[in-house]
Amino acid sequence: MDCAGACRISCGLTDEVAQLFESRVVPLWQGVYDSLVARAEIRPKSRVLDLGTGTGEVALRAAKITGPKGSVVGSDMSKEMIRISEDKARRLGLTNVSFRQMNMEALDLPDDSFDRVVGNYSVCCCFDYRATLSETLRVLKHKGRLTYNHNGPGESLEFQLMLRLLEKYRSKRPSGKLRAIREANALQDRAWSQYRDPFATLNLMRTVGYEFPEATVTQRSVKYRSAQDYVNRLLKLSWKSEAEEMSERTLGELVREALSLLAPFSTNESELVIRDEMIFFTGCK
Ligand SMILES: C[S@@+](CC[C@H](N)C(=O)[O-])C[C@H]1O[C@@H](n2cnc3c(N)ncnc32)[C@H](O)[C@@H]1O
Repeated sequence: MDCAGACRISCGLTDEVAQLFESRVVPLWQGVYDSLVARAEIRPKSRVLDLGTGTGEVALRAAKITGPKGSVVGSDMSKEMIRISEDKARRLGLTNVSFRQMNMEALDLPDDSFDRVVGNYSVCCCFDYRATLSETLRVLKHKGRLTYNHNGPGESLEFQLMLRLLEKYRSKRPSGKLRAIREANALQDRAWSQYRDPFATLNLMRTVGYEFPEATVTQRSVKYRSAQDYVNRLLKLSWKSEAEEMSERTLGELVREALSLLAPFSTNESELVIRDEMIFFTGCK
């Protein structure tokens, strides 16, 4: 499978879960959106590009800051994500933001046209990390700045346990469709795995031509109502295709074992807080 094929598969999957992403993930990520926007130092009148905008949270925040004399483009591969973003912008009455379906590895945008490029948990989804960083540099104006984030090298212990369970329970005889999805996911993981290490990313940023590249390692905490809520989200979003090829019985066993493994991590109120490493990268043109 080549990157273009893998990208199509990943885009189709995102279309399928876009509405669920908006209702179940976006409310949990509000703090992360705010902190990315603050770090990007967007100014009134700025021209901003949001890479992999999803349902537009960062682009909409940026549009409020730039005001009518500035403008924002939210770009995403997924038609459904774009549709939801446009709908939200319309409801907010924002006319200085537009959304375009576009691959961040080959931006259909002119050179030197943005003051800021931002991306919340999106650069880690591309299939060619280097191409993405080169493209963002190309579209930035002189002295413009890229600010984006994604996870660092370490996974939370809770997620590591869940990954082990997925390995144990996932279908040993996957359909052709699921085999292709696994292959696409593996390509995506391979594309960015080395850049979970901030030193590798900073080196790449320098090689591509960014000035003053910086990485800030922080901790992200996401609070779930309960361990059951966390497991349900995994099965409905990231692992939807895997869950669809498990029998009811296998799914039941997976959930039972997951809840017993996660029990020691829940608080008295049965909430589950997952903490992982998040890195913010910045670089200037
Ligand atoms: C984890 S979501 C994050 C969405 C949004 N930034 C947020 O934080 O709410 C990643 C997004 O990147 C998009 N994406 C993945 N690969 C892409 C690519 N090569 N070009 C453009 N968008 C891409 C996906 O469609 C998805 O909407």
